[in-house]
Amino acid sequence: MRVSQSLVRTISILALVISLSNAYDPSPLQDFCVAIDDLDGVFVNGRFCKDPRRVNANDFFFSGLNVPGNTTNQVGSNVTTVNVDQIPGLNTMGISLVRIDYAPNGGQNPPHTHPRGSEILVVIQGTLYVGFVSSNQDNNRLFSKVLHPGDVFVFPIGMIHFQVNIGKIAAIAFAGLSSQNAGVITIANAVFGSNPPIDPRALATAFQLDANTVRELQAKFGSI
Ligand SMILES: *[C@@H]1O[C@H](CO)[C@@H](O)[C@H](O)[C@H]1NC(C)=O
Ligand SMILES: *[C@@H]1O[C@H](CO)[C@@H](O)[C@H](O)[C@H]1NC(C)=O
Repeated sequence: MRVSQSLVRTISILALVISLSNAYDPSPLQDFCVAIDDLDGVFVNGRFCKDPRRVNANDFFFSGLNVPGNTTNQVGSNVTTVNVDQIPGLNTMGISLVRIDYAPNGGQNPPHTHPRGSEILVVIQGTLYVGFVSSNQDNNRLFSKVLHPGDVFVFPIGMIHFQVNIGKIAAIAFAGLSSQNAGVITIANAVFGSNPPIDPRALATAFQLDANTVRELQAKFGSI
C-alpha cells in the first residue's frame, strides 16, 4: 500500500514536471488575440495560410526598398517596412526587414520598442548615434555607439532604442527583425499621444512635470 502510494505520487509529480516543461504559449504575432465564443470574426495568432498549390514567387517578393522614404516630418526619419503585410510569404517565418532614412543634421528614429522582435541594423550611408536601454532589473544601462557605413548594431527584443543622424548628409540603414510582424511602440506617441489621453495628473507625477507641460505634450502628440 505504502509503496504503491509513493509510486503514484512519484508518477504524478513526474507527469506534472513533464507537462510543465511542455506547456508554453506560442509567441504572439500581433498586438492581441482576444478569445471569442462565437466564430463571427475568426482570427488566429498570425495569418491563415493560402492553399500551397496557389503559392507562387510573387508571394515571396517585394520591390521598392531602393526608394528613400520622405523624411520631411517632425522627427526627420522614415521607416519603410517589409513585413508579412507586404510579403505574405513571411507568415510564420519569424523574420522581416525595414529601410530607415534619416534627414541630415539630427533626423532621428525616436525611442521606440519592438514588442515581438530583436533587430539587427546595418548602416549603408551616413553616421548614426544609436543605442538601447536595458530593463529596470539591469539598472537601465545605456548601450550606445556611433555607427558608420558597414557598421552593425543589435537591439535586443523589447528594449527601448533609437538612432540619430549626427552627420551632415542623409543617412540610410537597413534592419532585419526576428518577427514577421515585430510591432512598434514609439514611446512619446504611446505615452503622450494615447487615445483617449492618459490623465495629465498621472503623467505629471510619472514624468515629474507639471500638468500644463504634460497637456502641451499631449497636444503635440495628438492626444488632446
Ligand atoms: C514616409 O515616406 C513615404 C514615401 O515617401 C510617405 O508616403 C510617408 O508619408 C512617409 N511617412 C512619414 C511618417 O513621413
Ligand atoms: C515630402 O513630404 C513633405 C511633407 O508632407 C511634402 O511637402 C514634400 O513634397 C514631400 N516630398 C516628396 C519628394 O514627396
